[in-house]
Order: sequence, then C-alpha cells, then structure tokens
Amino acid sequence: MGLLKSFFTNCANPQGRMGRAMLRFMNLCHAPLTNWGLSLIDFQDGWTMLDIGCGGGATLRRLLKRSKGSQVYGIDISQESVEKASKFNAEWLNKRVFVSQGSADKLPYGDMKFDLVTAVETVYFWPELPACMKEVGRVLKSGGSFAIMVEVVDSDSKWTDLCEGMTAYSPEQLKKMLDEAGFVKTEIHRKKPSNATIIGMKP
Ligand SMILES: C[S@@+](CC[C@H](N)C(=O)[O-])C[C@H]1O[C@@H](n2cnc3c(N)ncnc32)[C@H](O)[C@@H]1O
Repeated sequence: MGLLKSFFTNCANPQGRMGRAMLRFMNLCHAPLTNWGLSLIDFQDGWTMLDIGCGGGATLRRLLKRSKGSQVYGIDISQESVEKASKFNAEWLNKRVFVSQGSADKLPYGDMKFDLVTAVETVYFWPELPACMKEVGRVLKSGGSFAIMVEVVDSDSKWTDLCEGMTAYSPEQLKKMLDEAGFVKTEIHRKKPSNATIIGMKP
C-alpha cells in the first residue's frame, strides 16, 4: 500500500502515529463543514448530545459551546480517537464531556437519552448503515434530531479509492435510509461545492 493510501486509510479507524496525524488534520480540515452544518441547528441550553465517530474531538467542543449547561458524549471505534478527543476536551472531561470507545451499531447508552446526535464525515465507514440509523433513533428523545454531515463523494471518486473500507452515499440515499429508519421531516441542505448536511427528526 502506498504512503498516501496508508495515511488516508486512517480515516476509517485512526491507529498509531499516522492515525494521530490524521486526527490533527481532521480537526482542522472538517471545521468549515462542521460549523456550517451546526449553524443549521436551533440549539437549546441544557441539551444532552452525542457525536458518533468523534475523531479528534473538535465537534464535541463545538457542541459544548453552542448549548449552555449541556453535556456532550463522544464515541469512536478507534482508541486513538478516544485518546485524542479526551485530550482535546481535557478542561471539561468527565464533567461535561464524556468520551468512550464503541461502534455506531451498538451504542452503549440508554433509550431516549439525547436531544441531538451528530455524525461528521463518518457514516461512510459504519457497518450496516440502516441498522445504525435505527440505533441512533433508539438513543434519541422524541423530537430530537440526527444531523449527518458529509462531503458529497461519488462511488468512483479518489476518496473511495484512497480510503480502504469507505462507502460513498449521496444525500438522497442518506435521506431515504433515514426515512426508512423512522425519521421524519428529513431535510437535505447543500453548500457548494460538495458539502451536505442531512437532518432527520425522531417522531
Ligand atoms: C473521517 S473521520 C471523522 C472524524 C470526525 N468526525 C471529524 O469530523 O473530524 C471518521 C471517524 O469515524 C470513526 N468510525 C469509523 N467507523 C466507526 C463506527 N462503526 N462507529 C464509530 N466510529 C467509527 C473513525 O474511527 C474516525 O475517527
């Protein structure tokens, strides 16, 4: 495997030195997509929120700032991500920010815990995405939202070639899956050239 491909394969499950470099890189380069996606949400104070595939933890910090008195949970399949996200949010760790290792298909939280669940640049790697969406629905409160932020990629793009295990989904495919998983009022928002945020509500 070439160096570039080894580096980008760390998007799926950051490991070791390259994984740590990838997490620093993602904290920076996902900022525009994440800030725009979060600007579409009407945050309320005191929310309990979850970021799945939290990577280096920049989204956790952004969520924390947008809801006073909130609690923010992060989960990621990679131990490297858990360590980086914990360090990145050290000030509030285990007070308002809680980070753990786990997978989107089996969330270690009780039913109806969260007001908002976010997933930034990560659904491409989840196993059985429709089942993961049902799992997100389980942990959301009634009236809570699931916001998926993606850079729109074609199935034959350079990204799916570079990142082992990556599956590309169009915003329309993601909306259909959310609808089928029981979400309502699902909306696709687009920002040129290639950013999309898909938000569905748990009825
Ligand atoms: C491209 S990175 C994005 C990280 C972060 N959301 C961001 O925007 O910077 C994808 C992240 O999803 C995580 N991931 C992949 N599969 C996952 C799964 N099944 N459950 C939870 N996290 C997963 C990876 O470990 C990685 O940290």
